[in-house]
Amino acid sequence: MDSAQVIPRHQTAISRQQLSKPIALAVADGILSANSTLFDYGCGRGGDVTRLQAMGYAAHGWDPGHSPNAERRAADVVNLGYVINVIEDPTERARTLASAWALARQVLIVAARPDWEARTVTGHHHGDGIITKRGTFQKFYNQEELRNWINVQLHTDCIAAAPGVFYVFRQDADAQTFLASRTRHRLLPTSRPRRRQALYDAHREDLDALAAFITARGRLPAPEEAPGTADRLLRVFPSLRQAAATLRNITGHQDWDKDLEQARNQAEHDLLVYLALSSFRGRPKASELPKGIALDVRMLFGSYRKACSKADALLHGIADQRHLNNACSASKIGKLTADALYVHVTAVQALDPLLRVYEGCARALTGSVAECTIVKFSRMMTKVSYLSYPDFDTTPHPALTASLRADLRMLNVKLTDFRRSTNPPILHRKETFVPLDYLGRDKFVRLTKQEERAGLLLESATIGTRAGWEQRLQDRGYRLDGHRLIRTATATAPASLRSK
Ligand SMILES: C[S@@+](CC[C@H](N)C(=O)[O-])C[C@H]1O[C@@H](n2cnc3c(N)ncnc32)[C@H](O)[C@@H]1O
Repeated sequence: MDSAQVIPRHQTAISRQQLSKPIALAVADGILSANSTLFDYGCGRGGDVTRLQAMGYAAHGWDPGHSPNAERRAADVVNLGYVINVIEDPTERARTLASAWALARQVLIVAARPDWEARTVTGHHHGDGIITKRGTFQKFYNQEELRNWINVQLHTDCIAAAPGVFYVFRQDADAQTFLASRTRHRLLPTSRPRRRQALYDAHREDLDALAAFITARGRLPAPEEAPGTADRLLRVFPSLRQAAATLRNITGHQDWDKDLEQARNQAEHDLLVYLALSSFRGRPKASELPKGIALDVRMLFGSYRKACSKADALLHGIADQRHLNNACSASKIGKLTADALYVHVTAVQALDPLLRVYEGCARALTGSVAECTIVKFSRMMTKVSYLSYPDFDTTPHPALTASLRADLRMLNVKLTDFRRSTNPPILHRKETFVPLDYLGRDKFVRLTKQEERAGLLLESATIGTRAGWEQRLQDRGYRLDGHRLIRTATATAPASLRSK
């Protein structure tokens, strides 16, 4: 029997109300830039294509079930989104992957449903997947299984973009540029120029762009790295160094030098973390480095050899749990408990480089976890968990909804879903997880002080879950109104437990 005739694959296509996960990721990661073309291979009802076109992208798609007559065309970026998991025949699955890859000039995005979603779908076994109640086929992939399958089929080394989503780059230099950008810190605000100066006022936009580059990379750009800006500035200043000197003059030497040193340190760390992690794919030779990274290396470390030996030392640290434990204990950022360090996702790039490499190894397995709020670094076992607290900012004691754990020894990824839990773990002392400049941190600090004064945070084992915490509030005669603690009726707990 030809199962393709029986299994209504086209019925797996849903009407999308927003961009699919792989496409949204590609936009956020800069994979899909304003000038790139996209082809959606197996586009289903075409929701992604329509939305991308409305956003101004040159996007097209084809689907054997929904738009069989559309042209299958080559594009810079090709998306194969949730297609392979609906194909029951492994040979056809591989052929489909190869056909999509053949059309990709720069990047192929492959997305498939992850294994933990299998729990939510009922059906009967068929081949290496299941036939669902609707009669469609679904194969659920373990993260490493999907990575290995793509690598074997395409003789390549794909990159995890997110759980269930991988990027396959045509050119290794593009893969390296992407990986380096992923380890690069977000821009720190530079000190604003303090003095007015006609020269600055006349070229404000370009000088600000120059300052932003220096802050991000800890060095001056080569003219070709900031084409428009550099061209315009070089018509006015003899060199970009002179333009930067003008910025230093009007910003104030002390502020500028402090910013620059911080930017250099951060850029050095970014580069070391990138080089340490790049050894998993086979570190590129000096001659294979993308131009921008080669310049970073030369300006920040003097030579590639020096940079690589520092990166290797960092990588060796990961193999030793004691080093990891020490780095966790010494961290000035995050909340340290007996078995782990917990850090808000916005502070991860400010951590010690060893911890960043630790997290980077986990991310090489999982890809970016968009829903992550807190990263948990185990001090005992080489495991990193990405914890989701969707109400972190708005709820005083947010509940855990999911934990995605990457085990670096076993090389596996496991999701634990708490959404249906009636008594999920919750957070206290939220200010301890976030960076000092985190919006709303003051509010978190005030609440913790109130709760401490009321004796609510003592014996914390019992208040780690929602039920225990609610009971504690009730026993002591309190309730919460947003991030404010309010006294209610008289406490029901024994007087000895009450705060004095
Ligand atoms: C789950 S849908 C995904 C659609 C779309 N990519 C999205 O994310 O919304 C799977 C689609 O794969 C299509 N499909 C099935 N076999 C295919 C094949 N051999 N080549 C390309 N697409 C195929 C089906 O028609 C269906 O529309």
